[in-house]
Amino acid sequence: MRRLPLFEIEDQPWCPAAVRDGATDWLAFLGNATEAFVPVVPKITAAMEAAGTHDVLDLCSGAGGPWLSVAPALDAARPGVRVELSDRFPNLPALAHVRDRSGGRVGFRAEPVDATDVPEALGGVRTMFNCFHHFPPEAARAVFADAVAKRRAIAIFEGCDHRALGILGVAAQLPLILALTPLVRPIEVSRLVLTYALPLIPALVLFDGTASMLRLYMQDELRAMIATLDDHASFRWDVGTTRIPRAPVAITHLVGTPR
Ligand SMILES: C[S@@+](CC[C@H](N)C(=O)[O-])C[C@H]1O[C@@H](n2cnc3c(N)ncnc32)[C@H](O)[C@@H]1O
Repeated sequence: MRRLPLFEIEDQPWCPAAVRDGATDWLAFLGNATEAFVPVVPKITAAMEAAGTHDVLDLCSGAGGPWLSVAPALDAARPGVRVELSDRFPNLPALAHVRDRSGGRVGFRAEPVDATDVPEALGGVRTMFNCFHHFPPEAARAVFADAVAKRRAIAIFEGCDHRALGILGVAAQLPLILALTPLVRPIEVSRLVLTYALPLIPALVLFDGTASMLRLYMQDELRAMIATLDDHASFRWDVGTTRIPRAPVAITHLVGTPR
């Protein structure tokens, strides 16, 4: 089944920031609590070695994504790692929270950074977690074209390689979000109200999570997109899946490094 051009509520300008931030806070909490993305560390270190850098620029960071679990593992594999989080709409309190808990490994950019046109001055391996499906094909292609034009390594990771199992996984999050939201830090009154009194955050997670699974780019779609880039042969591309131990689904990865 091909990617469907659906919309997600969190991408709409009318989506209240407290609801959007509540959903990205939950995604970050889940990613870190399960350590589901730690298995992609060798992919990032390989890109860092190929690019000769210890720096990472994370794009579309939302509330920081899985970095509180990934950064220590990355630092153990390549000591001296420095990760900068960024977003087109930076959620500054959440990003500051991640920075403060990261043991000095993670910082953030306070100004907006657009993944389709990253300032030349920002170096490091570009990473994107659980966000590439938000980009419609032309914008998605622009993300790769920008990295190729500026000779920056890029590594994208999407948290599921199977649409149907992914939708089941989204549904399974509903009881979890109700049970575990009090553990999400920093505690926000708005998050508690919008989870229990007026459950717009669980509704958004369910709707957007389902739409996300139907919007995922599968490996053949990613390969076809790369093939349309003018200078794609100047990069080495690794498209595949990374297994998550004990999970029924895997992570789709795409890593591009300058030759
Ligand atoms: C699903 S959320 C966050 C995903 C996050 N990486 C994680 O793992 O939880 C997607 C994020 O992409 C950001 N975004 C959307 N379009 C963008 C663009 N063109 N450039 C940079 N960030 C963008 C949104 O503001 C939002 O915070």
